[in-house]
Amino acid sequence: MNYNFFDKLEIVGGNKLFGTFKNQTSKNAVLPIMSASIMSSGVVKINQVPDIVDVTNMKKILRKLGVKIKKQKNDLILDPREIKNFKVDENLSKTMRSSIFLLGALLSKFKVANITLPGGCTIGARPIDLHIEALKKLNVLVTEHEKGFSFDATHARAGKVKLKIPSVGATENVVQFAITLSGKTTIYNPAREPEVVDLCNFLNAMGAKIVGAGTKKITIYGVDSLNGAQYKPIKDRIVAGTIMVATAITKGSVTIIDGCAKENKSLIKILSSMGCQIDIKNDIINVSREGELKNTNIVTGYFPKFPTDLQSIMLPLLCLAEVESKVKEKVFENRFLMVKELNRMGANITLFDAQTALVRGSTALRGRTVKATDLRGGAGLVVAGLVAKGKTIVSDVHYIDRGYDHIENMLFSLGADIRRVCQKQK
Ligand code: UD1
Repeated sequence: MNYNFFDKLEIVGGNKLFGTFKNQTSKNAVLPIMSASIMSSGVVKINQVPDIVDVTNMKKILRKLGVKIKKQKNDLILDPREIKNFKVDENLSKTMRSSIFLLGALLSKFKVANITLPGGCTIGARPIDLHIEALKKLNVLVTEHEKGFSFDATHARAGKVKLKIPSVGATENVVQFAITLSGKTTIYNPAREPEVVDLCNFLNAMGAKIVGAGTKKITIYGVDSLNGAQYKPIKDRIVAGTIMVATAITKGSVTIIDGCAKENKSLIKILSSMGCQIDIKNDIINVSREGELKNTNIVTGYFPKFPTDLQSIMLPLLCLAEVESKVKEKVFENRFLMVKELNRMGANITLFDAQTALVRGSTALRGRTVKATDLRGGAGLVVAGLVAKGKTIVSDVHYIDRGYDHIENMLFSLGADIRRVCQKQK
């Protein structure tokens, strides 16, 4: 997907969503898998890669390093055999936080790496101290310079790493880095997110020896090299969750194929308690709602707790529920950025502090011109637009395009009145 900075989405609220939705592949699985492929001594084929801006940017970063990339229908073929360059392009690195995921793979391959401070959403400080601390434990020499950090792994050795916070990125970096260290590396308190498990499954498919992904301890037994592989990453639990909430807010009925039912347990529990009907069979989820919505409280957390990425998607739904609902954001420090925009649409949300919101229910949302502030916050505004009275225009769609493979097509195919307005820079 190309980066169209001035695109807007126009939504006329009121249509109920009906039909069948086939879920896309997970952004947070595919990005680290793409970066990990540079460690392979052969060709890697990744199936069903979504057409999203973060993938486009990751392809640009990898190509600059020397990876040859071909598209075959929806599959990507990556050939890292002639990769020579270990410096991530500074400007590209700023476009997405996922560039930090290259650190472990680059260090494993070249024993040196240079990282400029990564970019990404505006949802919080998103430091990389845990990544650095963990690598230091494995005897990597880290030097801070004006724009970022240099890493030297010449004297690195396998060992034990305990993460203070189960950070997804730090876990993924340590796992990748430890793969070619001779001996056994153990990560205590790793992230248990399904995308971390998927990365480990991919690495194992390339010949790595990783056990315990998805539990409270991951063990990596060093191997000499990784071979090529073909891999189909998991589906996107956040996109499935977005469609579930969008269906609930419009009082529709949608069947989601590959809905990530197991991974979305916390969301399904909340939606059911609010009065939505949810039927699951073989990962096909049917979501519908007929009656009014009950209020609820949400506390985000690390997997398997309620995902922070679905918090802003839920806010418009809570606006329609009875009485009031409380939302506590416990992962990021600044994830209520879209509240200001949602309040402009008629929501009545009070922020007690940067991480606690009180959402007053029974609120009628109305169409407005609003600005996406970050990826999931932007998607939350689109969900609000589906039920708002009149027309909602969401600008800065480029944030949403980072993770959703054409959100307007997904929702239009389910009956929403939504279209993308492409505008060129004047
Ligand atoms: C990943 C996901 C993102 C998701 C998040 C939490 C990708 C590409 N992105 O982001 O969509 O919202 O997990 O599930 O997979 N932290 C530190 N120091 C560090 C690293 C993290 O303090 O060195 C803090 C962060 O500021 C944050 C918390 O740890 O408050 C969790 O962050 P982390 O799990 O690392 O998120 P990401 O990997 O960046």
